[in-house]
Amino acid sequence: MEKITMPQKLLKNMTFHSDVCEKHTYIQNGQEIVKPIQMMVIKGEVLCPRCEAEKTEQQLQEKMQSEFDLSMQQQKYNTLYNKSILQDKTLLDATLENFKAEQSEERENKQTVIESVNRFKNGQVFNVVLQGNQGAGKSHLAYATLQELNGQDTSCLFVNVESMLRLIKDTFSNKQSKYTENYFVELMSEVDYLVLDDIGAETGAIGTDKTATDFVQRVLYAITTTRQDKSTIITTNLSSETLFKMYDKKLVSRMFRNPKFIVFKETKDKRMNNIPF
Ligand SMILES: Nc1ncnc2c1ncn2[C@@H]1O[C@H](COP(=O)(O)OP(=O)(O)O)[C@@H](O)[C@H]1O
Ligand SMILES: [Mg+2]
Ligand SMILES: [Zn+2]
Repeated sequence: MEKITMPQKLLKNMTFHSDVCEKHTYIQNGQEIVKPIQMMVIKGEVLCPRCEAEKTEQQLQEKMQSEFDLSMQQQKYNTLYNKSILQDKTLLDATLENFKAEQSEERENKQTVIESVNRFKNGQVFNVVLQGNQGAGKSHLAYATLQELNGQDTSCLFVNVESMLRLIKDTFSNKQSKYTENYFVELMSEVDYLVLDDIGAETGAIGTDKTATDFVQRVLYAITTTRQDKSTIITTNLSSETLFKMYDKKLVSRMFRNPKFIVFKETKDKRMNNIPF
């Protein structure tokens, strides 16, 4: 076949070639399924224009896929910062580094947290229960644990239980709010590591025999049901005895499933540190 020169204005240095593309020529039972594609000489190389177009398309698709993957990773990483529900914003700065361990109990508990973080990183699944008095540093250590674990392939979420339940209740009358029961149950079941902060504080029942409402139990039950193969970190001021009185036994057993208990008995309230009397 003769070489046909393309209009210079359109495609510089491009001419048809006598060969047809093997990949793009299928003949079955004497019938052409795909019309033979005539090769072209592009900048001195003999190439099939369709193969070139497919290559470009594939590159484009790979680029889009990698951009999508990156944005998913960023979304995972940002879950902790964008979706956590905190009561105390000072926790945003809580890390293991800035957790001062002056007393032996603090040193021991910080060490247990470091060991737990390592076990999590090794793929072990278990719950951590941080128990003790107000201001001892439970929420600080829980948030610091998430900061250690958070990454592009690991999503983390910190939820203060009382604040979450207040947001859910608000949606009963405020239909504009996105913080529905479903929103939280879905979000909290998706994340790899979840902190349920200050369990038991939501009923305002500390020191009384009050039991949690059906609503609270239902929400906590739904969350713990979906997280049976994932690690959850729980903080509470309450004793196990009080928790078993307040909540359904099965629910507490689930929260305490395969647990690592970290208890503060002696550490004083850090919030009182800067009060001079
Ligand atoms: N050992 C510590 N080192 C540094 N800051 C601490 C320590 N313990 C508590 N804090 C800070 O004191 C405040 C109260 O601690 P928090 O963890 O919220 O107590 P808890 O959850 O036990 O009631 C937080 O701002 C926290 O960052
Ligand atoms: Mg706390
Ligand atoms: Zn081709």
